[in-house]
Formats: sequence, C-alpha cells, structure tokens
Amino acid sequence: MAGKGGVGKTVVTATMARAAARVGLSTLVIEVEGKSGLATMFGQPALDYDEAVLSAGGGRAGEGEVRARTLTPDEALLDYLRDHGLSRISKRLVSTGALDVVATAAPGIKDILVLGKVKQLERAADTDLLLLDAPAAGHAITFLQAARVLLDTVRVGPINAQARDVLEMLTDHARCRVVLVTLPEETPVNELVDTAFNLEDRVGVGLGPVVVNGLYDDHPGLQAVPVEAADGAGTTLRKGEAEALAEAAAFRTDRMALQVEQTGRLAARLPLAQIRLPFVFTTEIGPPELDLLAERFLAEVDALPEVV
Ligand SMILES: Nc1ncnc2c1ncn2[C@@H]1O[C@H](COP(=O)(O)OP(=O)(O)OP(=O)(O)O)[C@@H](O)[C@H]1O
Ligand SMILES: [Mg+2]
Repeated sequence: MAGKGGVGKTVVTATMARAAARVGLSTLVIEVEGKSGLATMFGQPALDYDEAVLSAGGGRAGEGEVRARTLTPDEALLDYLRDHGLSRISKRLVSTGALDVVATAAPGIKDILVLGKVKQLERAADTDLLLLDAPAAGHAITFLQAARVLLDTVRVGPINAQARDVLEMLTDHARCRVVLVTLPEETPVNELVDTAFNLEDRVGVGLGPVVVNGLYDDHPGLQAVPVEAADGAGTTLRKGEAEALAEAAAFRTDRMALQVEQTGRLAARLPLAQIRLPFVFTTEIGPPELDLLAERFLAEVDALPEVV
C-alpha cells in the first residue's frame, strides 16, 4: 500500500486484511514505519518486531487469521546475520551503529534489508496474503527502487544476490502488486498519478486497482437548502439551527461535487480500476468501523469489471 502521507494507507491495509479474513484467507501485515495505529483498528495493543495475532481465524464463518509485525532495518540485519551464521558479531554491529555507516556509503542498503526480509517471509509461504504498509509516497519510490539501484552499484556478493531476489519479487506481477491509495482531492490525486508512472517505469512493479478513500456516501434528498426555506418548513428548529444545517448541507454538497470531479480526473489520467471506500464518521476506527470498510471493499471488488 502506498500513497501520500495521511491518505489512509494504514486504514486501507487494515481493511484489506479484514476483507481477506472474511473470505477465509490468512494475512500477514508488515509495517515498516513506527506506530501506525493498525493494531488499534483490530482492538489490539501496538505492534512490535515479534509477530502478533490481530484476529484469530476459524469460527463458524471460517475466517482467515490476521497477523502483523513491524520490520526495521536493524532487526532485519540481525536476522540476516543470524541466518548466515554470524550471530556473534551481529549484536555488536548493530549496537555500535555500524549499519548507519554502511547505509551512508551504500544508499538503499536499509531498504534492501527490509525488502529482503519481506521476500523471506513471502518465500516461507505460511500465509495467503502479505500486505506491506509502505512509507509515504516519495519514500515508497526510493524504497522500492533500492533493489535496482543496488544491483547497479554492488555487482557481486550477497547484497547483489539479495537485491536480485528482491527485484524478481517486486517485478513479478503474479506475486506482487502495489495498491495506491488517495483521497478524492486535487493534490493527492496528482501525486498518485505521478507515483503510478514512476513505479511502473522506474521499478517495473505491477499496479493493482487504486483505492480512493474517504468518500462521502450519497445522501438522497440532500441539497443546499436556503435558510429561509428551512426556517419556514414548519419545523421546530431553534434560532441558528437552520443556518447550521444549511451550512452543513452546502458543505457536503460541495464536497460531493469535488469527489465526483476528482475521481473522474483520476480515471481520465490513470487507466486503473478504482475501489472506493467511504468516509466513516467516527473519532477512531475500531473493529466495527473496520468491518464496515471491509464489507464495502469486498462489494467493490465484486463490482470490478474483471480480475485486474
Ligand atoms: N475511510 C475513512 N473514514 C474515516 N477516517 C479515516 C478513513 N481513512 C482514514 N481515516 C483517518 O484518517 C487518518 C489517517 O489515516 P491513516 O493513518 O490510515 O493514513 P496513512 O496514509 O497511513 O498516514 P501516514 O502517512 O501517516 O502513515 C487516521 O486518523 C484515520 O483514522
Ligand atoms: Mg500509515
């Protein structure tokens, strides 16, 4: 999942995991940047490097399990060295900050460590679906580009092999797709279009449908009611309430016109299917809201013209 900061990447990641569970698929969610609030949406405490179960599978509905973990370059390096019989030096390497020195000399090394670990988890294949809650858009491109950059700079040895494997995974459209997320607003839509072309051209990664998040649902009968009309409608509104209601109606009407315009513009500029998710009116997205989003996600997937 990739997209501009704050557009709902983490919410969409959680939604997809929940949707997958509902159709009986098991999912491992991987977070690469700090505290995202993903676990809260499943009613669970915050994640750490160890895998946590966010929702158990099974039950009468035959749901899939959702697990999640955080990946950091330091810990991925420790794992890598341990797997290669170098655990004795690994702790010291990490604690002395040697990785930061190496990372300065070879940009992309941290990204490749994380992606290498993702590749290893994918190979382990003990889950149906692996969702990566990627860093915000700008970094997502460098992040996914790291393998190609390192292949050019490091021509032999284990890093080269690692980069090659990662690139193979990223560019295999049957194994890996990037789902771009946006809000129905001017700047995020522009950025999504740029990111889409960059990812395809510079990384060679396949794109899934795009997710347009936070759409206001249609509200039949809603119009920008003139204040006088609202006042004279035989209602028992107190002074000021009619104005407030009219203002709210006008705001929502404008917002809905904007989202029609922006989704249309997105469709015109990017020939990818769109999955549309509603704005949920709540202070914090928890399990009930996540269920609602997952239901909508599945309905939208069903309505797609064909499997993309
Ligand atoms: N469909 C939605 N309905 C209501 N609130 C939403 C929706 N999608 C996202 N939000 C809220 O918007 C905020 C940003 O969402 P989220 O954390 O998923 O974005 P993000 O793209 O992962 O952000 P970051 O770039 O910081 O990782 C959160 O408070 C989240 O609860
Ligand atoms: Mg996030």
